[in-house]
Amino acid sequence: MQHFTLSRQPGLARRIIATLMCILCAAALSSCDGQGSRAGTRILIKFPHVTPPASPKGRAADRFKELVHERLGDRVTVEVYPSGQLMNDDDSIEALAFGEVQMIAGPLSKFDRLTKKYQVFDLPFLFEDIDAVERFQKGPAGRVLLDAMADKGLQGISFWHNGMKQFAGPVPMAEPDAASGLKFRIMESDVLQKQILQFGGNPQKMAYPEVYQALQTGAVDGHENTWANAYSSKFFEVQDYFTETNHGYIGYIVLVNTEFWNSIPADLRDELESIILEVTDWANALSRTLNAEAREKILASNRSNIVTLSPVELNDWRALMKPVWDEFDDGIGLDVIEAAQQASNP
Ligand code: SIN
Repeated sequence: MQHFTLSRQPGLARRIIATLMCILCAAALSSCDGQGSRAGTRILIKFPHVTPPASPKGRAADRFKELVHERLGDRVTVEVYPSGQLMNDDDSIEALAFGEVQMIAGPLSKFDRLTKKYQVFDLPFLFEDIDAVERFQKGPAGRVLLDAMADKGLQGISFWHNGMKQFAGPVPMAEPDAASGLKFRIMESDVLQKQILQFGGNPQKMAYPEVYQALQTGAVDGHENTWANAYSSKFFEVQDYFTETNHGYIGYIVLVNTEFWNSIPADLRDELESIILEVTDWANALSRTLNAEAREKILASNRSNIVTLSPVELNDWRALMKPVWDEFDDGIGLDVIEAAQQASNP
């Protein structure tokens, strides 16, 4: 494992521990019949995440588990830990690096410490819609991003969508001025922090499992998230207004610890990769349905109002947010931003 900024142990000790973890994992994976033969290899993949089982990521993770069980029997066991019951996202990135869990689907907004490249996904109003995100991720610039943390010992296998983000809070936010002065929960992302400051809001970085209570108690006034997360985590119960801005994207990188992954026999690894890609297509299609349904259910709940933007209001939002891009283009790379723009205007 290469050096990087997750530092629970001094560098050398950390590397030794990580290597030992991988060796232990590989040993644990080796046969229960005691022969260590390929046929007897057993693998345990612990997969923690923070959203409920009914969310797009929850459904994808469970589908992965099911298909692995169907096709690989007891050679590979996937244990999914939803709803932050094992750990939050920050901790899961660290745990993956240290070999304590074997797979995550980390929100792309939460990797600032490891790479600036994924900040492209947070630039407000860069992607027109999910189709644009998908074109970008499947294109050459997007595929390169799967390797952005290879030097940190982490390998991306694919991208899973959640959906486009909306702003929510105690007031309608059709005009950016209405959001000024409000406290917003955001993910652990410097771009998102700047985005909120840009309209005079007060950004609060906060782990996902704390959001409902923070909204309920008024520790924060508002937040941004997808319809699917707002519904499955019940944020709509504690927000009076959703403003349909579609101003950004929440998606995940399916990520493994490279040493662990390479320790898996090639035939099993190929099968696991092909299952992940199959789940990716399934889950990315399903995420659209889940978001559309969640929007309808929030509307029908009468707990929260949905405000839509006129073309003029949308343009005002876009114009206000555009300067945010300039602060992050060095870290992301202009070529990556241009590829994302092209994906929005094919
Ligand atoms: C997630 O979808 O996994 C969490 C997103 C967030 O922290 O808002």
